[in-house]
Amino acid sequence: MNLGILISGRGSNLEAILGAISEERLAAHLRLVVSNRPDAAGLELARRHGVPTVVVDHREFGAREHFDRAVVEVLRAHEVDTVALAGFDRIVTVVLLDAFPGRVVNVHPALLPAFPGLHAQRQALQYGAKITGATVHLVDEEMDHGPILAQAAVPVRDDDTEESLAARILEQEHRIYPLALQCLAEGAVRVCGRRVRGGVPWK
Ligand code: GRF
Repeated sequence: MNLGILISGRGSNLEAILGAISEERLAAHLRLVVSNRPDAAGLELARRHGVPTVVVDHREFGAREHFDRAVVEVLRAHEVDTVALAGFDRIVTVVLLDAFPGRVVNVHPALLPAFPGLHAQRQALQYGAKITGATVHLVDEEMDHGPILAQAAVPVRDDDTEESLAARILEQEHRIYPLALQCLAEGAVRVCGRRVRGGVPWK
């Protein structure tokens, strides 16, 4: 699997994926990291690991589709076949999805379809949810939506803050994102409508 990772910020999921590749838990070549923000800390992390990086600054494009076209071009130039969004803060369009059909993956800090969008941990706290978690899913045209590859539940504690909850969810993101990508790499995943069969084997 030739992976391209799209980031906007610190890149802790990127780091987890890099760790899984180096420990041979994930059979993938990380071909490229793309950031829409020149100051994303994850760019430096990628460079330290010898991974090529490209900045495609969304502010230089009028329409989302034009930005996505530029991203697709750099991904193709680096022979990427699978795209992982990892803390990428842009809504993707059909331009990206059509270029990599069934091969664009995202991680979200809630048990989708609950709490899509920004501040998912805050939403869970404000709603009074007792259990939230992390979801890895194939991306479709709706935000934080698409067939689910893996989920992990995280109990909400009475004394949780947004930060403490986010930290425990993040641990689960780092665990299940490489597992879900490995399922894709093995071709173990069959998408039947909204359902994914043969996904992450639970332990
Ligand atoms: C993660 O919580 C992810 O689920 C969300 O943004 C955060 C990114 O964190 N989409 P990082 O950049 O991978 O550290």
